[in-house]
Amino acid sequence: MAGSAPVPVYREVVHEIDASVTPTLDVGCGNMKIPGAVGIDLVAGTQADIVHDLNRLPWPVADDAFEVIRLWSVLEHLDDTLGVLAEVHRVARPDATVIIGVPHFSSANAFTDPTHRHHFSGRFLDYLVPGTELSDRFGFYGTTRFELLERRVTLSPFWARLKLTRFLNRHLELYETYLCYLVRGADIQLKLRVVKAG
Ligand SMILES: C[S@@+](CC[C@H](N)C(=O)[O-])C[C@H]1O[C@@H](n2cnc3c(N)ncnc32)[C@H](O)[C@@H]1O
Repeated sequence: MAGSAPVPVYREVVHEIDASVTPTLDVGCGNMKIPGAVGIDLVAGTQADIVHDLNRLPWPVADDAFEVIRLWSVLEHLDDTLGVLAEVHRVARPDATVIIGVPHFSSANAFTDPTHRHHFSGRFLDYLVPGTELSDRFGFYGTTRFELLERRVTLSPFWARLKLTRFLNRHLELYETYLCYLVRGADIQLKLRVVKAG
């Protein structure tokens, strides 16, 4: 990220996605669906176009169908993180953009909702990103591959006001190992590119 760029808040920038021309899938959309996107959610009566339990794989969605896929505040609710990411990869076009938002494990919010099944560190997706230390060591977790375009661990409001976010993100491993239970995180925001073989 450029030095002075603001921390992206993808919930606010989704209006920049023109889903009427860019096939977009909003996974676990609830009632906050990206306008014009195809929404998939468990609950009928939300803005979902496809009512489906995302824990049931495969999803009723064609291969290579979407250029943008968003999972905002949903991955932490689902059983099989790697299975869901493989499914995202399957329904994405080559080079598609994937936007993910989940609570950071040091956020109280991560543990408040009893339906949260997983708690994530900022590096949880590195296993699927070639060139990272975790992928080099544990790349056998599957064949799903992404390129990491942007990553931000946002901070809880008090700490965010002190303008520490960019500095701590530059030293993410150190932050998560030694500091994050004092300087509490809020969300993990990821922007990825889908890498498909061939
Ligand atoms: C915290 S809400 C987030 C909604 C929306 N993405 C947003 O940003 O406001 C979580 C959403 O995930 C959906 N969800 C949770 N578990 C699901 C499942 N197993 N299958 C499909 N949708 C699920 C819920 O119905 C809900 O709409």
